Amino acid sequence: MSGREIENKVSHLLARMTLAEKLGQLQQLDGTWDGDVRPEQIKLAREGLLGSAIYVYDARRTTELQRVAMTESKLKIPILFAFDVVHGYRTIFPVPLGEAASWDPAVVEQADSIAASEASAAGIRWTFAPMVDIARDPRWGRIVEGSGEDPFLGAGMASAAVRGFQGTNYGSPGKIIACPKHWVAYGAAEGGRDYNTAEVSERTLREIYFPPFKAAIDAGAGSIMSAFNDLDGVPCTANSFLLTDVLRDEWHFHGIVISDWNAVNELIAHGVAANGKDAAAEALTAGVGMEMFSRLYNQYGEQLVAQGRIPVATIDRAVRRVLEAKYKLGLFEHPYADEALENAELLSPANLAAARELAARTFVLLKNDHDTLPLSRNLKSVAVIGPLADDTQSLLGPWSGDGHKEDAVTLLAGIHAKIPQAKIVYAKGCDVTGDSRTGFEEAIKAATESDFTILVVGESADMSGEAASRSSLDLPGQQLALIQAIHAIGKPYAVVLMNGRPLSIDWAATNSPAILETWFSGTEGGNAVADTLFGDTDPGGKLPVTFPRSVGQVPDYYNHKSTGRPPGVTKDYSGYSDILWTPLYPFGYGLSYTQFKLSNLQLSAARIHRDGTITVGVEVENTGDRAGDEVVQLYIHDLVASVTRPVEALKGFKRVSLQPGENRHVEFTLGPKELGFYNRAMRFVVEPGTFNVMVGDNSHDGLKSSFEVVP
Ligand code: BGC
Repeated sequence: MSGREIENKVSHLLARMTLAEKLGQLQQLDGTWDGDVRPEQIKLAREGLLGSAIYVYDARRTTELQRVAMTESKLKIPILFAFDVVHGYRTIFPVPLGEAASWDPAVVEQADSIAASEASAAGIRWTFAPMVDIARDPRWGRIVEGSGEDPFLGAGMASAAVRGFQGTNYGSPGKIIACPKHWVAYGAAEGGRDYNTAEVSERTLREIYFPPFKAAIDAGAGSIMSAFNDLDGVPCTANSFLLTDVLRDEWHFHGIVISDWNAVNELIAHGVAANGKDAAAEALTAGVGMEMFSRLYNQYGEQLVAQGRIPVATIDRAVRRVLEAKYKLGLFEHPYADEALENAELLSPANLAAARELAARTFVLLKNDHDTLPLSRNLKSVAVIGPLADDTQSLLGPWSGDGHKEDAVTLLAGIHAKIPQAKIVYAKGCDVTGDSRTGFEEAIKAATESDFTILVVGESADMSGEAASRSSLDLPGQQLALIQAIHAIGKPYAVVLMNGRPLSIDWAATNSPAILETWFSGTEGGNAVADTLFGDTDPGGKLPVTFPRSVGQVPDYYNHKSTGRPPGVTKDYSGYSDILWTPLYPFGYGLSYTQFKLSNLQLSAARIHRDGTITVGVEVENTGDRAGDEVVQLYIHDLVASVTRPVEALKGFKRVSLQPGENRHVEFTLGPKELGFYNRAMRFVVEPGTFNVMVGDNSHDGLKSSFEVVP
């Protein structure tokens, strides 16, 4: 159907709707948490008052509710089924922070494309993903749901996610509507406490927090979600600067704006609305089109219109966007999911194979003294120790869609499958949290009697995600003591981390021979980790977020400002008296089983005009004796400008796979989009002057050059 045809159909339908029915289209209401239809939803669907449902999933149950809307309601408008398909629907992929660690947008695109085909087969046509909030504070539990601390990497992953979920047209079979969230600066919650206030300047919003949203919208995202937090005194759900001035007027966004869960109602708790009616008026006026969970538009919409507080045109505009999406999805012609397709799609061998392959691309090798890893398949005995070694639930991570823990392959199972002939002894050692060390003895015995120990520690899945902020970044419970006990035996071992945020693992980083960061790696995680531990895949991922030495360094992000007293320049510098100012592992960091050499950094010009572009080229060579992956990263620094600029900012990255001895030329282009910033008048400009360029394999080290921008 063409855009014009859809517009006509929407106008025709709108003309037949009562105000109550219109408001019904702006209502999203939840099913039971485990996917069942609730009686209230049936009633509203029958009355034509339910635009969208959340937490009703699978083909049978979505069809049950849809049938009521399509056969029993007056206007027969289909319901749009939504769900948080964040890193997979039933086949679960690594958590988004892990996917970002791949530094490979194709990983995100493929995972989300598979997630979309599974979800749509189950009747879900709208996901609340990608979460594109920049997070500079690892105490914030939801750091796990996004791409980390950097706007450039985040923007690359955001557009890849939208392409994966929606394709070029979300109406195509197997595609669903994406919803970048949470607009905006939710990740800037003070103290990392979830839902907390954010104080962010407009410049930082535009330069750091906005870009992934802009990228998602430019990629065609069909919807966006307003955030819970207040920003500079105005809750995002009542914020017309964000929802109207920026989204609609500047960015020309035409899709649906939905509130976060109960966020319209929470305007009362925020203290900007005295009651439900005012809250509805605030959100509608600011530009929230659909209300999730709370029912205030429905309860008060008619009164607000009758009293002249909300023009009907505001309601009509919001309803239009919902109906347009339903027509574009083809829901009027094909309202029902197909159980046969669902059976064929969920956990298909191809999807599982992809989950295994993509997960392996997200692992980051943090340390590998004396080539401790990879392991030989000829090992006779292996001890697998730690509370996460056989934990199916944690492997799936938070927000794991309709993932079933029974489907998940743990690392213990993955190692059994990898070396079936070896003697494998498993000992839990301790729980993730708690004080008990009663399992240590068994663990020490297992490690003592084995040739090698794989120690699997970190966080359980519920320690990150929503409402899961932590005041400590240390390994919880007795896990550090467990590492120390195994270390004391003096036999070879490797630490495998599973976690949803950076952890302060100073002791292990200093003392343990090898550390592999595996995040929460999904349904096939255990197989993928085993593939990497035994060298069938190379750990080519890089950190998408800084790992601090201690929680006291937080926020600690690589693209900070210089300050007037930068470290290394004056005695009294911006740092600490009791700890180094540098992080434990910098943004962009990660080793490989092989070695790479970067050389021959070349710029296409010594100077360019402010509208011009410059090409940065470099050679990367695999100088080791194994195939492996390197991520070549380009950073810039604008040395003198009218406003302070970050000491470095990522502006290009490319992950390359190279055979031993193989050489590749990698090229990046820098133009106004990369070189510009918001000046004192908040205008985006490129200012003349010197730009330093660094091309490296992390944000701290690399080849350096510079060029001039002239007026
Ligand atoms: C979260 C959103 C999510 C919504 C629906 C909220 O609590 O903040 O990210 O999409 O619930 O599950």
